[in-house]
Amino acid sequence: MMSTMMLVALAVSAPVSAADTAKGKQVYMANCMACHGAKADGKGPAAGAMTPKPTDFSKAAYWSGKSDSDVEARIKAGVPGTGMMAFTRLSDSDLADVVAFLRTQAPSP
Ligand code: HEC
Repeated sequence: MMSTMMLVALAVSAPVSAADTAKGKQVYMANCMACHGAKADGKGPAAGAMTPKPTDFSKAAYWSGKSDSDVEARIKAGVPGTGMMAFTRLSDSDLADVVAFLRTQAPSP
């Protein structure tokens, strides 16, 4: 059962969508953290020798002009020729949750 605190936290962190940022964090930590980093700043333990570097999601500039569906599409397609593989195994709801979580890692514009 969900505690009142958790409901409040979800209401505060996800005002415009039904995406679940707590679930998104789990998906992120399991699939993305090694490269994009625990703070989503692109400095994960596996990022060291990578060219190009994993994207830094902790800067408001990254999010400027991007819709959730833009970012979801990039995760699904990957970026050919880089460490960014196509995450076709993630469901649409996992993708929405992980993007909602990533948005919480950047300062609001
Ligand atoms: C093996 C390392 C690795 C893993 C794991 C990884 N990424 Fe990436 N990701 C990268 C690299 C490297 C880039 C940069 C590609 C570039 O700059 O063209 C990237 C780019 C991206 C982009 C595109 C940014 C843009 O708009 O140009 C998104 C979105 C993204 N990653 C999200 C994720 C998510 C979400 C996960 C987990 C589901 C994930 N990545 C897992 C290495 C990784």
